[in-house]
Amino acid sequence: MLTLGIETSCDETSIAIIDENFGILSNVIISQIEIHQMYGGVVPEIAARNHIENILPVLDEALHKANLSLDQIDQVAATTEPGLPGAVMVGRVFGKSLANALNVPFVSVNHLYGHMASLRLSNSNLQPPMLCLLVSGGHTILYQVNQNWENKMLCTTADDAVGEAFDKVARVLGLAYPGGPKISQYANMELPIVPILNKFPKNCFSYSGLKTAVLNYINHEKQKGNQINLPEICANFQYCAVSQLLTKVREYLQQTQIKTLGICGGVSANQYLRDQITVMCKELGVQLFLPRPELCGDNAAMIAAAAVLGIK
Ligand code: KG4
Ligand code: ZN
Repeated sequence: MLTLGIETSCDETSIAIIDENFGILSNVIISQIEIHQMYGGVVPEIAARNHIENILPVLDEALHKANLSLDQIDQVAATTEPGLPGAVMVGRVFGKSLANALNVPFVSVNHLYGHMASLRLSNSNLQPPMLCLLVSGGHTILYQVNQNWENKMLCTTADDAVGEAFDKVARVLGLAYPGGPKISQYANMELPIVPILNKFPKNCFSYSGLKTAVLNYINHEKQKGNQINLPEICANFQYCAVSQLLTKVREYLQQTQIKTLGICGGVSANQYLRDQITVMCKELGVQLFLPRPELCGDNAAMIAAAAVLGIK
């Protein structure tokens, strides 16, 4: 049973083929990062146009790498929400047309459940129930997932997503998009941390206050004619951004007594987050699952995996 997955919801054009055991036969990703870098963020129109240009070559390469032909595909899955409307539409229409032409089922996949499925793709021994923290450029959500991968949202962000805060702070610091990897690269976590902000709303995540606090701090320092200490600001921001995630996840782990935790989405590539959450899970006796680094960001293998798991 072969599933062909398609992902075009933001700035990656990706097509993957996986089997029923979550074996990845191919997972081709063309990133448009370089194109969008000159604008400091993703430009929706440009993203959609590039998906149109990329999608056929990406399909050819995915088939070639898997050594398969189209008539061997049993189902087609594509991200149909959420995402940049024009960008999502390219993958959705392409996927539906392909499924139609091949006379196979089309599976509509929620991008967020794709990230969730990246945990199963990376860990064959993962079996919910679990808590799942999704941390990406657009979302910061804690889910409770039952054994059938049915899930309910426990809490989400009141304003910005954590990845978005990384990107916006990076932009003000003159670091290239996407900012998350750059901030974690410059952050010197050995420095003494004086949290820029440590008060957050009680029942949800919140990142706009932290973002504003960092931007104000940078502006004040500049006004005073002081040099910006990049490793220090990055470290402080990263500390505050990650601490909030840790606090909230700890609260819900204790409240629900669930002993399995998954963390997924682009920000789950952050090494400081990975290190800190590993320490916390050891302390709480919780088994931690993370995606393989190459499956943290947007990719089509996770979309195909969500279809195989039937996450709805
Ligand atoms: O999941 P993803 O690829 O796309 C969305 O669905 O949004 O996540 C992209 C986000 C960006 O905000 C990017 O800055 C962030 O993930 N990111 C990171 C790291 N790598 C990517 N944030 C912090 N540390 C990283 N190492
Ligand atoms: Zn994503």
